[in-house]
Amino acid sequence: MILVTGATGQLGTAVIKNLLKQTSAEQIAALVRDESKALALKEQRVDTRVGNYDDTASLDQAMQGIKKVLLIAGTDEEKRVQQHRNVMESAKKAGVQCIVYTSRTLKDRNTVVNQLMLGHFQTEDEIKASGLNYLIFRNVLYMDAIPQFVGEQVYATGIHLPVGQGRVPFALRSEMGEAIANTLLKRDCENRTYNLTGSESYSFDDIATTLTKLSGKEVPYTPTAQTAFEAQLQARGVPAVAARRVVGFLTDIKNGQEDEVSTDLEQLLGRKPASLEAGLKALFKL
Ligand SMILES: NC(=O)c1ccc[n+]([C@@H]2O[C@H](COP(=O)([O-])OP(=O)(O)OC[C@H]3O[C@@H](n4cnc5c(N)ncnc54)[C@H](OP(=O)(O)O)[C@@H]3O)[C@@H](O)[C@H]2O)c1
Repeated sequence: MILVTGATGQLGTAVIKNLLKQTSAEQIAALVRDESKALALKEQRVDTRVGNYDDTASLDQAMQGIKKVLLIAGTDEEKRVQQHRNVMESAKKAGVQCIVYTSRTLKDRNTVVNQLMLGHFQTEDEIKASGLNYLIFRNVLYMDAIPQFVGEQVYATGIHLPVGQGRVPFALRSEMGEAIANTLLKRDCENRTYNLTGSESYSFDDIATTLTKLSGKEVPYTPTAQTAFEAQLQARGVPAVAARRVVGFLTDIKNGQEDEVSTDLEQLLGRKPASLEAGLKALFKL
């Protein structure tokens, strides 16, 4: 039986949807921290188990009868290394055979500006040292995040971001979920790291050009300075610490931390992942 954590989140939902296309609901358990969100899972007869990454007793309980655990990274970036450790330790105690973790594609931990990303590397290290068989999915930045990056007023204002000509091989979250489900069912837990990325790397100039083509409205991209962007965020009421984090995140894009194309997603899907144009068409309903 496979336990999917983060099962009421977006990636977890995509994974379970794709698991259910290929196997019966009796083979799937879902870790949910808020049972009221689990109605759809229950309707699909998925075995929902209530638990929280902070609550080791709940995790011990949830691991009963589980062979593989998909650990979807926690959203509390300050606490998640310990949370992931809790999941790992409960899995070991329960005799789970394989742990699968959703990390991030970043080229070099030594030069990453957004220090909160280091938690992914730390979790990867701990998983590798845990003695459990593992798979790691290093997921590229979701293409689904582009509407948030460019903002609701994009057609009026164009794109203003401090990401220079940094490139990202964006991929759709739904396709990453599909690839992870395929792997959970069809591949061995062979202590391997997959990089889930699109087939091509794109700059924000490419995003602007594609939005212009799809919408018929001129969408220019203007690279901005990091300091000016940070000041603008603060002027809009974003707390200084959060503004610094956002800028760190964007600086990593500018520095090419995410600019690494892999064929892993294509191989696990059995087709080319969605291009930027196909993805933006769906995401912006164009
Ligand atoms: N590749 C990328 O571009 C990218 C971008 C953003 C984030 N991420 C990472 O990928 C992960 C999955 O993405 P997503 O889009 O599926 O995020 P999401 O929709 O926010 O889902 C996160 C899931 O984790 C669960 N969770 C968080 N803290 C938990 C805890 N303490 N105990 C138990 N469950 C907990 C949440 O539970 P609830 O449903 O109860 O909230 C939710 O189901 C994120 O957590 C983040 O670390 C990746």
